[in-house]
Amino acid sequence: MAEKLRAAVIGLGFIGPAHVEAILRSGLGRVEAVVSRTKEKGEAFARKYDIPRVYQSVDDLLKDGQVDVVHNCTPNALHYEINKKVLEANIHLLSEKPLTITAAEAKELVDLAAKKDVVAGVMYNYRMHPLVIEAKKRIERGELGRIFAVQAEYLQDWLIYDTDYNWRLEPELAGPTRAVGDIGTHAADLLQYLTGRKVTEVNARMKTVHPTRKKPTGEVVTFGKQAAESFEEVEISTEDYATILLTLEGEVPGSITVSQVTAGKKNGLHVRVDGQEASLEWFEEDPNRLYIGHRDAPNQVLMRDPGLVSEEVAPFVHYPGGHEEGYPDAFKNAVIDFYSCILDRGRKPLLATLYDGYVENVFVEAVVESNRTRSWVVLNL
Ligand SMILES: NC(=O)c1ccc[n+]([C@@H]2O[C@H](COP(=O)([O-])OP(=O)(O)OC[C@H]3O[C@@H](n4cnc5c(N)ncnc54)[C@H](O)[C@@H]3O)[C@@H](O)[C@H]2O)c1
Repeated sequence: MAEKLRAAVIGLGFIGPAHVEAILRSGLGRVEAVVSRTKEKGEAFARKYDIPRVYQSVDDLLKDGQVDVVHNCTPNALHYEINKKVLEANIHLLSEKPLTITAAEAKELVDLAAKKDVVAGVMYNYRMHPLVIEAKKRIERGELGRIFAVQAEYLQDWLIYDTDYNWRLEPELAGPTRAVGDIGTHAADLLQYLTGRKVTEVNARMKTVHPTRKKPTGEVVTFGKQAAESFEEVEISTEDYATILLTLEGEVPGSITVSQVTAGKKNGLHVRVDGQEASLEWFEEDPNRLYIGHRDAPNQVLMRDPGLVSEEVAPFVHYPGGHEEGYPDAFKNAVIDFYSCILDRGRKPLLATLYDGYVENVFVEAVVESNRTRSWVVLNL
């Protein structure tokens, strides 16, 4: 067993701590440092997890060195600059999604990483649920026959009220799209990952349900319940909702519906692939079951169980069937996959590469352009 990789995590909001726990649970890394803008918050967090060093800036972290891999868990607008610094320092990079805000920036990072001796990836974590990998393997083995069509939806309700607020509503921090960039890209990534086919064109319509929102004057926690006493009314330019028609390579039609304003849906990511021999369906809120549809035989429900999945999927199943695993376990699998690629440079990643991240940025820009022109837009990769 190789020495554990020394990791640093930048940003300790909602997702940074999920990365820390995943690193610790992976068995392949230890958290050597965190970067937090607030000293007290960083130090309290470091004490809780026995993390030796706390920095307040990325530059200080990189100046001191002593880390093998950096996890960038900051708001979207900071990804490009921080990711670039990490790559320039020749350090392995696991960036949160979206890779950057523009496709041009993402392409620059892809080219930069290619010149460095590093492994770099993007946290499209839903790829790493065991039954999603199982679905991918079954499709690769041809078990669905000819693929006809794909569908996905990603529905949430945490921004349904005009009093709901988060940095994701501010284009300067989140980028020019919201629902599509934030969660739609997870769905688009999954459809492409499952089928091995890229999106070639889109026709999208976006809807801003609340053209103004009440921005609290105090600090706002992601997914936190908002009950601000004082707020300012701000204009919202990004979408709460989008419907996207798309075509995958090989003229496979599909659709994605994205919403952050669908009451009752918390993290309603759902994907389906239709083939001549069978269809496969997976729900993020029911991640331990893969639904297999048949025309001439009873439908099947495959439970996540190390003895029932394919041989190459079993290492990503950590508990017996019925002992449910979920979101944090897929994060753990993402770190296992990514760190294994650092430790064994010949290994092919399951997790998204920087190029896959770039593909999502191109997808987002095409969706925005399609909505603006009310027409089909071809993706230029
Ligand atoms: N893969 C997933 O499932 C998933 C889920 C949630 C968020 N995300 C992504 O993670 C990123 C962060 O989202 P979040 O929900 O955790 O947001 P958040 O607001 O909860 O946390 C962001 C943190 O970054 C900190 N920060 C800001 N600037 C910083 C800087 N210069 N240096 C260090 N820290 C800084 C903030 O103080 C905050 O603690 C986003 O890009 C988002 O898209 C991914």
